[in-house]
Amino acid sequence: MDYNPLAPEVIENPYPYYAYLREQAPVYWIEPLQAWALSRYADVDFALRNPQIFPSSGFTTQTLGDLNPTPEVPWLLDLNPPDHTRLRKLVNKGFLPRLIRNLEPRVQEITRQLISSLRSQTEGDLVLTLSGPLPTTVIAEMLGVEAERLTDFKRWSDDVVLGTSRPTDEAVRERVRQSGSALRVYFERLIERRRTDPGEDVITALVRAEEERDVLSAAEILALAVLLLLAGNETTTNLIGNAVRNLLSHPAELAKVRAERALVPSLVEEILRYDSPVQLIPRQTAHEVELAGGKLPAGATVFLLLGAANRDERKFPEADRFDVTRNPQDHVAFGYGIHYCLGAPLARLEGRIALEALLFDCPPFRCTKEHLPQIASVIVRGVQTLPLRFAA
Ligand code: HEM
Repeated sequence: MDYNPLAPEVIENPYPYYAYLREQAPVYWIEPLQAWALSRYADVDFALRNPQIFPSSGFTTQTLGDLNPTPEVPWLLDLNPPDHTRLRKLVNKGFLPRLIRNLEPRVQEITRQLISSLRSQTEGDLVLTLSGPLPTTVIAEMLGVEAERLTDFKRWSDDVVLGTSRPTDEAVRERVRQSGSALRVYFERLIERRRTDPGEDVITALVRAEEERDVLSAAEILALAVLLLLAGNETTTNLIGNAVRNLLSHPAELAKVRAERALVPSLVEEILRYDSPVQLIPRQTAHEVELAGGKLPAGATVFLLLGAANRDERKFPEADRFDVTRNPQDHVAFGYGIHYCLGAPLARLEGRIALEALLFDCPPFRCTKEHLPQIASVIVRGVQTLPLRFAA
């Protein structure tokens, strides 16, 4: 069996390929991508815990190429200690679990507004109406984007996100470039404004860090703001979409959650494990490494298949069963270790609130389409649209 994460049949359903890799080829060479793939939980976990052996590789920035709106500084994701340590410590301040908990009433309010437009029709698209706009609106407010610029901001950020799926159409690439540069100009002005007119937002927190100790440059703040947009939007959209899609195809599990609202946080963890919104993350090898499943050469590009590790039977009994009561605590859907997802508490909050609203504040719904095409991405997993019809 050939595994190529770019192949349409793998994008459609990667899980049979992962099962083969875990059993037959836990250290696998992907010829078309000139990279290795690790699929067993133990190997992925080892790589995440040992960033000195498996450093970050600059892969994300390279993938964007000329579509990267902030090419002059590497992104947090692509940095290694000590640069990563310094920047991460600063940006952590804007994402403390306490601050995220305080956002709950506002996330509830935004969700209520979005849901009411979804409910006002009998049919609506989940991605367009709720799971797409929710994370973008929340992060925009956290960054301090003014309400009247929200529409522009959303368009720019959607276009820049589009750049990460390597569009080939030149007209699309040009639009991505233009939106990237508009976003950049907007953020540059916002950063300047926050120096004299501080707010309660993440940009102000980063500007203060820069001024107090001269540790963050304007270019670094800009790159962080763009990364926060990219890292947090499509991923959270897919968390919500994957949850709804899997609940609809597992009616008994849907019934369990409907009968017990307190299961929603467990549902969120199970969907992160069972149908991970981020399927793989890139690393390289600092030197030759011997893993349980085989050997990797020095300087190799390695994909950690999070989506495969999360289905490993050795770690999760009956791993291919979607079980809303499982509440798995040590899945690797948010990574682990020094690059552990900065936005995990925020994604969990948004996921829980959106799913509670859909399941408990809306009439019962079904999907109106038989087949839902997956987003054509090697990295993220989710559907492009999810048309729902609500009971009258
Ligand atoms: C369900 C939603 C999400 C998933 C599945 C997810 C997944 C991940 C994963 C797997 C990593 C580790 C990458 C690596 O080790 O190479 C990561 C890192 C990161 N995530 Fe998330 N993420 C989500 C939501 C968010 C949100 C809402 C934000 C912010 C608003 C965010 C911001 C970040 C940042 C900044 C990093 C880089 C951290 C670092 O390099 O130190 N993510 N995320």
